[in-house]
Formats: sequence, structure tokens, C-alpha cells
Amino acid sequence: MKGVTVITHPLVQHNLTRLRDHRTRPQEFRRVLGQVAALMLYEATRSFAVRRTSVETPLAPAQGFSLSREVVLVPVLRAGLGMLDAILQLIPNARVGFIGLKREETTLRAQFYHKSLPKDLHRFEVILIDPMLATGGSTVAAVNLLSELRARHVRLVNLVAAPEGIRHVRRHCPDLPIFTAAVDRKLNDRGYIVPGLGDAGDRLFGV
Ligand code: PRP
Ligand code: URA
Repeated sequence: MKGVTVITHPLVQHNLTRLRDHRTRPQEFRRVLGQVAALMLYEATRSFAVRRTSVETPLAPAQGFSLSREVVLVPVLRAGLGMLDAILQLIPNARVGFIGLKREETTLRAQFYHKSLPKDLHRFEVILIDPMLATGGSTVAAVNLLSELRARHVRLVNLVAAPEGIRHVRRHCPDLPIFTAAVDRKLNDRGYIVPGLGDAGDRLFGV
């Protein structure tokens, strides 16, 4: 699918399988989700713009690179929190914004309950973080909000996506790069990804 990168690295797939396992308890789920997020970040940031720079090593001048833009991480609450800390370890100077979205159980419509984002988003690389892309409603709502706030360089780090959700996101956000570890079979009639891993927020926080 255009704009969708499925990260097939063995360590990502190994850890995804542990997350899918219904026997994985919240403590381990949190740890493994963090590990997988860190592994996925390498691929998801491969196309970050860089500029040439030079430094002095103890021995001589050296040519190198630095990131052209600062980074804003935007986890979608709650489940996105499970990937945040591990990504922050790798980009410690990133700013962090939050988007609270909750799917209404019957309509599956995502409703905002929290928005807290840095200003001047157009200057930043924005990494939207949400492990689950089911109907795609939450991702579209989050990306629309980021666009209203003038974000221009947005990408999604996701763990498991449903084909229906990807199609929905593609229709509404055709330019959004999506990085995921799996595109699963389908959504069930309650909007859950099958086989998926269940309710990511509940499994993270033991609800
Ligand atoms: C889950 C998940 C995604 C969303 C995906 O969040 O974390 O944000 O559903 O579904 P969609 O693609 O159909 O919009 P939920 O609203 O259940 O909130 P939670 O993370 O607090 O559990
Ligand atoms: N949200 C989840 O956490 N899991 C799903 O399968 C769908 C939405």
C-alpha cells in the first residue's frame, strides 16, 4: 500500500508476537511495547531531513550531519503513551504534545478529550504515535488537528493496522507516511483488529 512501510525486522516481529499473546501481562506488555517502539523508530526516522555540519574531533575537523528540524512526539492517549518513553530515550531533546481521543463504543467515532501541543508546529518533524489503527478515525482526527495547527512534516508510528483503517486514512490523509509492524486481516463487528492484540490501552494499564 502506498505510503505504508511494514517493518519486517525479525526483532520487531518477535516482539509483536509477544504483544499479541493473550498471556502477556501488563508489566511485560509495557516493556516489550517500549522495545518495539525503539526498534521501529530507526526505520520511521530514516527520511528525516539533515544538514551538513562540521565539528572538531580531538584530532581534526570532521564533516557530519545534524537534524534539520527539531522533533515533536505526539502520543495519542492512552495507548500511545506505551511507546513514548522509549522513543524519548532516543530523541531526548524532542518536545512532547498530547492528543486525547476516545472511541465511542457504539459509533466507533473518536472524540477529543485533551489537546496539548507546542506552537509553530510547521517548524518541526512531528511523530504521531498510536499503536492501533483500526477504523482509522482516531488517526484522521489527530492528523486533521495537527494540520489545523500548521504541522507540515507528520508521520505515524503504529504497531498494528487494519486494512479498512489504512484505506480510510489514505482517503483523508493521502500524504501521511505510516510505519507499522503489521497490517492485519480485518476489523470485527466491534471495530477491533483481528487478530490484533486486543485493547492496547487496557493491556498496557491493566484495566
Ligand atoms: C484505541 C487505540 C487507538 C484507537 C484506534 O484507543 O489506542 O487510538 O483506538 O481506533 P480507530 O482507528 O478505530 O480510531 P481508544 O479510543 O480505545 O482509547 P484508549 O487508548 O484510551 O484505550
Ligand atoms: N483499539 C485497540 O486498542 N484495539 C483494537 O483492536 C482496536 C482499537
